Amino acid sequence: MVDPLRFAHDNQPRILDELKSFLCIPSISAQAVHRSDIESAARWLADSLRAAGFPRAEVMPTPGNPVVYAEWLAAGPDAPTVLVYGHYDVQPPDPVDEWLSPPFEPTVRGTNLYARGASDDKGQLFVHVKAAEAYHATVGAPPVNLKFIVEGEEEIGSPSLDPFIESHRGLLAADVALISDSHILGPDTPSIVYALRGLVYLQVEVTGPAFDLHSGIYGGAVNNPLNALCRMLASLQDADGRVLIPGFYDRVRPLDEDERLELGRIPFDREAWLEEAGVSTDWGDPDYTVIERTTARPTLDVNGIWGGYIEPGAKTVLPSKGYAKLSMRLVPDQDPAEIARLVRDHLARIAPPSVSVVVHDLHGGDGAIVDRKSPALRAAAQAYAASFGAEPIFVREGGSIPVVATFQRVLGVETVLMGIGLPDDRLHSPNEKLHLPNFERGIDTAIHFLRLLADAGKG
Ligand code: BES
Ligand code: MN
Ligand code: MN
Repeated sequence: MVDPLRFAHDNQPRILDELKSFLCIPSISAQAVHRSDIESAARWLADSLRAAGFPRAEVMPTPGNPVVYAEWLAAGPDAPTVLVYGHYDVQPPDPVDEWLSPPFEPTVRGTNLYARGASDDKGQLFVHVKAAEAYHATVGAPPVNLKFIVEGEEEIGSPSLDPFIESHRGLLAADVALISDSHILGPDTPSIVYALRGLVYLQVEVTGPAFDLHSGIYGGAVNNPLNALCRMLASLQDADGRVLIPGFYDRVRPLDEDERLELGRIPFDREAWLEEAGVSTDWGDPDYTVIERTTARPTLDVNGIWGGYIEPGAKTVLPSKGYAKLSMRLVPDQDPAEIARLVRDHLARIAPPSVSVVVHDLHGGDGAIVDRKSPALRAAAQAYAASFGAEPIFVREGGSIPVVATFQRVLGVETVLMGIGLPDDRLHSPNEKLHLPNFERGIDTAIHFLRLLADAGKG
C-alpha cells in the first residue's frame, strides 16, 4: 500500500492524459450546436468518477444541460460529508485565430497545458476526482463522505441549477461545500477566497423609427436610437466609474478599517498587474485601491454595443434600433433583482420621449461572503500550507460563483473556495492555460484537505 500523495505523483502522466481527453470535448454551453458535446462531457465525467471508485455516478437530466451527480458515502454517518461543485461546460473559444494551438487540442508548452477549460473549470474540477482516486487506489476509500454536483450551464448563468438544488436538498445534504474554480495569487503564493462578487446582466434595446431611414432625409428631426443609447449609457457612470443610478450603493456593505488594512497587506505588484491586464495605467474610483476596486466594490460595464451599419465602408443610415449589453458586478449585500429593477426604472426615466426602451434580464447571481473562522476553512489553510509550503493569504474575488450563495441559502452549507488557477490563466480568453505544477499541488492540497477535515470531525 502506498500513500495517496505518492500515488498521485507516480500517476501524473496518466492523470494528465485523462485531463487532455476531457479537454478535447468542446462542451460549449452558449452554443446549441454543441449540445451533443455537452452530453459527451457529462458522460465522460460520470465514467471517470466511477473509475475513481464512486459507487454512484450518474448523469441527471434537468430542463437544460444535465447535472453529473456522484456520491461515495464510505466514511459513515459520523464522518463529515463534502459536497464538491464544479462545471464541465466551457466558454466559446473565440477569437479562435488568436490561439497558438487549437482550443480543443490540449497542448503542453513549457509548464503549462493550453486548452479551453484547462483552468475554467475542467482542470480544477479534475483535481478532486483524482484526489478521490488516490484514496481509492491506496487506502481503499476517502476519509470523508464525498458528493459531487457538476453542472453544464455555469458559463450561461446556471438557469437550471438553483431549481435542481432546491428539489434535491436531501440528496445534496452535506457539512461543507468545496469548489475549485478560482485562482490563487501566484504559483508559490496560495490564497483562500472568502468573498465573491454577484452579477446582473442586462440587454438594453432602444427603438427609434419603425424602420431604418436615410440619414440625410430624416437626420436632425428623428432621434437616432444609437445616439440616444450612448447618451443614456454614458450618464450611468462618472469619469472615475462611480455609478450614478439612484439607490445603486444603498445596500453596499462598507469596508471597515480592519478589512482595508488586511486587503492592503495582500502583495500587489503594480507593474506586473498592468502587464497582465495589457494596460498602461489603472482606472477607477481614487478613494479605493486596485484590489478594493476589483473585489470589494461594485462596477458597471458595457460588454457590447451594436446596431445600424457595421459592415465595411460607409452607409448613411439612421437606424431603427440600438442595442447594448450591460453588466454590473455586485458586492454583498446588493440584491441582483433589486439592482436590475433600479437600472430598468432609471433607464425608463432618462429615456427621451422620442425613443422606446426595453430591458431584458439575461442572468445574474448573488455575491457571497463565507465564514472565515469555520473548521473547514482552517483545514483548507493547513492543506495549502502542507502542499505549497506557504500559509495562504485571505483574499476577496472579483469574479462570480453564484452557487456559493445558493448553498448557503438552500442547503445551509458554507463553501471552501480552494482555487488552484493563476491570475494569468486567461479565462474566457484565447490561450487559456493551466499551470501544471499547480495542478499537481492542487491534487495534493485536496488529498491533505480531506484528511484534515476527517481529523477535525463534523465540527
Ligand atoms: N470560474 C469563473 C468565476 C471566477 C473567475 C472566479 C475568476 C474566480 C476568478 C466562472 O466560470 C465564471 O466565469 N463566472 C461568471 C459568472 C456567471 C454567472 C456567468 C463570471 O464571473 O463572469
Ligand atoms: Mn468557472
Ligand atoms: Mn468562467
